[in-house]
Amino acid sequence: MDRRIAVCFAILTLIMIVSTSAAFQIDELVSKKHIITTKSPFSTALETLQKQINYTFQRIDLLRRAMTHASFSEENNRALSILGTSIIETSVSYRYLLNDMDISSKTLNRVIAEACNVESSCAVDGMRLGLHKIVRVSHNTNSTTPAIVCGAFRAIFAAVALDSGKSDDASKVFWNVHTRTGEMAAAF
Ligand SMILES: *[C@@H]1O[C@H](CO)[C@@H](O)[C@H](O)[C@H]1NC(C)=O
Ligand SMILES: *[C@@H]1O[C@H](CO)[C@@H](O)[C@H](O)[C@H]1NC(C)=O
Repeated sequence: MDRRIAVCFAILTLIMIVSTSAAFQIDELVSKKHIITTKSPFSTALETLQKQINYTFQRIDLLRRAMTHASFSEENNRALSILGTSIIETSVSYRYLLNDMDISSKTLNRVIAEACNVESSCAVDGMRLGLHKIVRVSHNTNSTTPAIVCGAFRAIFAAVALDSGKSDDASKVFWNVHTRTGEMAAAF
């Protein structure tokens, strides 16, 4: 008799363990799903941006930083935007010289200036990517100002170069997103 009770107990305990662990697994699934569905708008915007520029970051922190203005955080895109400017200048001079070894320094300087100009090409390219809606700024800063859009735009190329280890990759991304009806079309 005692043995039967013991066996019953053992079976009951087993059932309880099995059902508890099943419940845990369901809980885990639910919480995982919760993490996926509660991704921040900023993370979602960075994912979309990577698709737009056709480059997937290994180190997403680099893109996060590129999309962070100095008014928002000490970890911002200021220094990245300096490297980004160099990359744009290099990309433009390289391409123009490759097309025409006899290009005048005056013309070359002009096309470089046009590609980097805050008020024109740079802000236009940045706005087209929707950077003014992505870049993190302090609550009293207007993210649509050309300087902020440009800073973020330039910083992207530094982020790509650092991520891939090749500034050539950043150059490719630049030509991919740079206005196709821009100065190349006008010059040739
Ligand atoms: C996107 O990048 C991949 C790999 O770098 C390349 O093969 C493809 O042609 C690119 N697509 C566009 C639209 O630039
Ligand atoms: C933000 O800046 C843009 C461009 O300079 C301007 O058109 C817009 O009116 C500004 N918005 C606010 C709320 O000041």
